[in-house]
Amino acid sequence: MKILITGANGLLGQCLVRQAIAKNYKVAGIGKGPDRLLSANLEGYAYTELDITDGAALQNFILADQPDTIVHAAAMTQVDACELNKPECYNVNVTATRFLIGAAEEIRAKLIFLSTDFIFDGQKGPYGEEDEPSPVNYYGSAKLAAEKAVMESKLEWVIIRTALVYGISQTPGRRNIISLITQNLEASKPIRMVDDQWRTPTFVQDLAKGVLLVIEKNARGVFHLSGDQLTTPYDMAVAAAKFFGLDDSLIERVSSDELHQPAVRPPRTGFIIDKAKKTLGFEPVSLERGLQELYLDQRD
Ligand SMILES: NC(=O)c1ccc[n+]([C@@H]2O[C@H](COP(=O)([O-])OP(=O)(O)OC[C@H]3O[C@@H](n4cnc5c(N)ncnc54)[C@H](OP(=O)(O)O)[C@@H]3O)[C@@H](O)[C@H]2O)c1
Repeated sequence: MKILITGANGLLGQCLVRQAIAKNYKVAGIGKGPDRLLSANLEGYAYTELDITDGAALQNFILADQPDTIVHAAAMTQVDACELNKPECYNVNVTATRFLIGAAEEIRAKLIFLSTDFIFDGQKGPYGEEDEPSPVNYYGSAKLAAEKAVMESKLEWVIIRTALVYGISQTPGRRNIISLITQNLEASKPIRMVDDQWRTPTFVQDLAKGVLLVIEKNARGVFHLSGDQLTTPYDMAVAAAKFFGLDDSLIERVSSDELHQPAVRPPRTGFIIDKAKKTLGFEPVSLERGLQELYLDQRD
């Protein structure tokens, strides 16, 4: 089985590449920048620098590579940047997804699309797969538009929605909640974390395992893959500081309004993951266990 992973340099991508290689899949990766897993010297892995908004280049690559399954994890993921640069967000998150669908249809590849809890308005989380989406910011609207394109395609498709993914990339990647906390507190810099947003944080290793379960079980449809504990970024930051032996008094509790972020955040999302547990055998670790694993990883 040949898997193509877009966004292979990202937080999920790096982890998924490693897990897929360990399962002896043949893996190709696409990213916008240079290969960030290069130093890992992974046998069976081929990386190509390719901008997915270049439809012709993407199509040529896919027709030549002939993957059986495409995991589409590449995205413009910075929520505020999406709000401030809507055309770019649309181009990367929607138009490029349409290019990918077109190419995948030509070779009849299966498509697994990574989506987000931000398609919901956050008024009544945690959400199940059948709940009605109603995004409150541009990033969420764009990801929902991409979901619709996937659902309307002629492909065999799976949409995996995930939430507040945490982990530490082996090689530097974009910041996520854990790297934000550890980098600031290690430098004795104060950080502000909101206590009025609720999420079910997702350990990146679990998410990667979930993607591979979707492939192994030949699943179809929409799946919510996250942890199953509802918590706030503030509480998560304090828990992480404790595990990493850092000074949690540097974490200031703030409300969403105080941050004046360009994009509105949905207050209470989080996922009900019963379908993934039952259909895929998806069993995420507790937040405490995820933090422990990260802590041990960092010491090794
Ligand atoms: N992280 C979360 O909390 C979270 C929550 C919900 C949903 N998701 C979804 O899960 C997926 C994976 O997220 P992640 O955290 O792994 O994201 P990430 O770390 O930001 O990685 C995204 C990757 O997309 C690549 N990319 C961006 N624009 C591209 C372009 N024009 N052409 C080719 N590649 C491009 C980037 O490549 P370079 O690094 O080479 O520039 C980057 O490595 C995304 O679809 C995201 O929407 C994430």
